[in-house]
Amino acid sequence: MTMAEFKRRRRQLMRMMGAGSIAILASAPVAKRNRDVDYPYRPDSDFYYLTGFPEPEAVVVLIPGRKQAEYVLFCRERDPKKELWHGTRAGQEGAKEQYGADDSFPIGDLDDILPRMLEQCDRAFYAMGCDLELDRRMSEWISGIRAQGRAGIQGPLEFIALDHYLHDMRLYKSRSEIKVMRDAARISARAHKRVMQLCRPGVKEWQLEAEMAYACASAGAREQAYSSIVGGGANGCVLHYTENQDELQDGDLLLIDAGCELEYYASDITRTFPVNGRFNNAQRALYELVLKAQLAALRKVRPGAHWNDPHMAAVRVITRGLMELGILKGRLPTLLKNDAYKRFYMHRTGHWLGMDVHDVGDYKVDGSWRLLEPGMALTIEPGIYIPAGSKGVARKWWNIGIRIEDDVVVTREGCEVLSKDAPKGVEEIEELMCLKAGTRY
Ligand code: GLY
Ligand code: MN
Ligand code: MN
Repeated sequence: MTMAEFKRRRRQLMRMMGAGSIAILASAPVAKRNRDVDYPYRPDSDFYYLTGFPEPEAVVVLIPGRKQAEYVLFCRERDPKKELWHGTRAGQEGAKEQYGADDSFPIGDLDDILPRMLEQCDRAFYAMGCDLELDRRMSEWISGIRAQGRAGIQGPLEFIALDHYLHDMRLYKSRSEIKVMRDAARISARAHKRVMQLCRPGVKEWQLEAEMAYACASAGAREQAYSSIVGGGANGCVLHYTENQDELQDGDLLLIDAGCELEYYASDITRTFPVNGRFNNAQRALYELVLKAQLAALRKVRPGAHWNDPHMAAVRVITRGLMELGILKGRLPTLLKNDAYKRFYMHRTGHWLGMDVHDVGDYKVDGSWRLLEPGMALTIEPGIYIPAGSKGVARKWWNIGIRIEDDVVVTREGCEVLSKDAPKGVEEIEELMCLKAGTRY
């Protein structure tokens, strides 16, 4: 992402805020893993979206129309000793020169400087409840300002949810965001394809998790967007199975839900395929049903459709299909009316996708499902899960867990499937799995 794009976003936000306003937003704290070890640092998505600034301990302040500086970045000072151990810091000069801040101060000066900025504004844009430490300091700053009432200092009287504004901006992806998301999905899709070729009975789930991460990292995407789900057989029926500890068995299906993060944008892809490379009849019947539901849902992704249209399309196909296979019993209208599908398909058909895997943005506006518009990115991921012991369901269906998940962006004509490189047709998968890749376990 270019610095010009971050600047455009700040401009857009400041235009919406108007004069007399201030926005305050902190990045994420460093998260401790254990003792002296931290998790790899990942800035807060909202903060990064506005700044492109990757360091921890940073606060951005936007004050539209302020003469001295509209964009102020508080960040760590340079420190040769610490930089020798932990790497370089931008410091105040870097914040201005590399990241385009109009002004920058050491993060340690926040309590001295920020209240002075705050007291000159009528309206504060602030995301309450996201960062408890910042909430506490914000309360202190405000009460400090209120205490000076007799000196004629008033400060903001209006508080507005900054996240609501930012999340609406983030919902509409720009051309360059879509390009990064396309690259992320392409890397993940190719990794899925490789993993299909490496899969065979006897391989451990964690070995395929490792192959997935390796394929993504060596293509330039070092982080996964979320913990990979690699579940064979019964594990495929556990929606968020992440132990990935079992050995894959001949005759089982394998469900892999995994996607890389590239330049802070997520991909989120699920593929399900037979461990031994051939679907048996029951697996094939259910797989083809999920695929049919997924294709029906994808056809509904176009401008003007509402958020729930793809879900309803998938639900209709799945309900009818389960009835035809004898897994749901009764008449179709009654089954649809009673949401009978929820027993075997207990999640929704997708979610917004972007910097966060379950990305931000409202799904309803004024009580109605949101209409899809070009630039919105989402997943389409119907599934069917039949755990062992499911009452009234023949044994041949037990331990089949299937989800097929693609990443799509709404275009002017319909949608673009960003993850199309990951095979999902039955023949395509079986053919690919015959052509085994090199690594042997
Ligand atoms: N990987 C999480 C999800 O599919 O929503
Ligand atoms: Mn997923
Ligand atoms: Mn998903």
